[in-house]
Amino acid sequence: MLFRLVNFRFMSRNFIEAVAHRRSYYHLDNRMLVDDNLIVGLMDELLTTMPSPFNVQSARMVLLLDEQHHELWRMTLETLRHITPPERFVRTKAKIERAFMAGHGTILFYEDEDALNRMRETFPLYADKVAIWSEQSSGMLQFAMWTALEDMGYGASLQHYNPLLDKAVMERWLINPDWRLIAQMPFGAPLDSPAHRVDTTPPHNRRLIFGKGWE
Ligand SMILES: Cc1cc2nc3c(=O)[nH]c(=O)nc-3n(C[C@H](O)[C@H](O)[C@H](O)COP(=O)(O)O)c2cc1C
Repeated sequence: MLFRLVNFRFMSRNFIEAVAHRRSYYHLDNRMLVDDNLIVGLMDELLTTMPSPFNVQSARMVLLLDEQHHELWRMTLETLRHITPPERFVRTKAKIERAFMAGHGTILFYEDEDALNRMRETFPLYADKVAIWSEQSSGMLQFAMWTALEDMGYGASLQHYNPLLDKAVMERWLINPDWRLIAQMPFGAPLDSPAHRVDTTPPHNRRLIFGKGWE
């Protein structure tokens, strides 16, 4: 709890403004825009407060900074080098270097299978729902982290190089084998503007409202 409840008053936007401000950024540099302690404080705050089914609190996070962050993306590149056709690998390498490795850090999102298995045993009626609820709960945490990082001034994106990376990451950083890697979130000082927002289906075609005066 060391950093919990550090002063989050630097959050400049209200909730909906911060939600709308969150975008995917693919051109980063490694400048530190806020003290890394604030990122750790944010992780503690979100791990404490984000909802999970039956309050199982199965979310786990790893923050890689500096050389460790570079190493993650070098490992990713080496893994991809073996399975990507050479003509495609050139583009893949450029993207990984510019959009992820060049950033300030990476957050890894995990779910603890041991905690989830205990939930299956305690609530057998819901055992077949646990996997999907675990993903949903992790998604909420990822979204909150992404939104908060960008309110701090960072740009981030959401990546899924799992399960390709799982074993190498587990061995390198001695991650508990019960932790299942769900997503990677590289972040850094944004060097580009996000892509134009595409609204493929207008929101009013994606919602229904029933109630007095709405029929
Ligand atoms: C569940 C989920 C998985 C995603 N996976 C990836 C991914 O693997 N790589 C990536 O670059 N973006 C990924 N994204 C980001 C989306 O492509 C992006 O959010 C979407 O195109 C809208 O753009 P925006 O984030 O700028 O608003 C993912 C988003 C979600 C919600």
